[in-house]
Amino acid sequence: MSSRPRSRRQDPRTQSLLPRAARERIAEDAVLLAGAASADAPALLAALQPVIAQAPWRHMVTPGGLTMSVAMTNCGHVGWVSDRRGYRYDSVDPDSGRPWPGMPALLQRLAARAAAMAGFAGFKPDACLVNRYAPGTRLSLHQDRNELDLSAPVVSVSLGLPAVFLFGGLRRADPAQRIALLHGDVVVWGGRQRLAFHGVTALADGEHPLTGACRINLTFRKAL
Ligand code: SIN
Ligand code: FE2
Repeated sequence: MSSRPRSRRQDPRTQSLLPRAARERIAEDAVLLAGAASADAPALLAALQPVIAQAPWRHMVTPGGLTMSVAMTNCGHVGWVSDRRGYRYDSVDPDSGRPWPGMPALLQRLAARAAAMAGFAGFKPDACLVNRYAPGTRLSLHQDRNELDLSAPVVSVSLGLPAVFLFGGLRRADPAQRIALLHGDVVVWGGRQRLAFHGVTALADGEHPLTGACRINLTFRKAL
């Protein structure tokens, strides 16, 4: 899936899988923390259940009128929304008229820990966008630029089916790396890469023991 070698070596004595390289640099200020969320994954997915019950998955509409194929919801002080009026953060879920569910403490802690591992100490996200990709679903190249505080990084956690993450440069036309993201992988980008173009290619068919036939991505940001 990726041109990047991913070591999945076995310990000859125990036959157990050795961890992959814990920290792979993607660019100056962008890091892949392979498997950094795998131990927490079952608890993260359990913590998402009440979020999804309170703010169910929905397909938002772009300002241009296209329905997004990725299903989304949010937790935190504010949530990312898109509609005919534009992209923005809102403290209210437009589907319910109520505040977004709070960000579970486990999610906050994981995001802060991953950011610190990547060199961004003191990250306090106020928004977590939750994306659900079904097979065939993709997210085209874009920048995360609706946040007021661009000094804070973006922390992105992959759960369930694998995906190919595209990580480009500061211009849309810049070549993009293709990075295989597996269950439990975390990508952190900030600093000189904060406005890097990124996206996800069409998800391949598959079945994951924890998520079924989908990939769930948590994207933590400091929006305000
Ligand atoms: C995003 O850019 O919002 C999501 C990226 C991903 O799903 O890995
Ligand atoms: Fe994004």
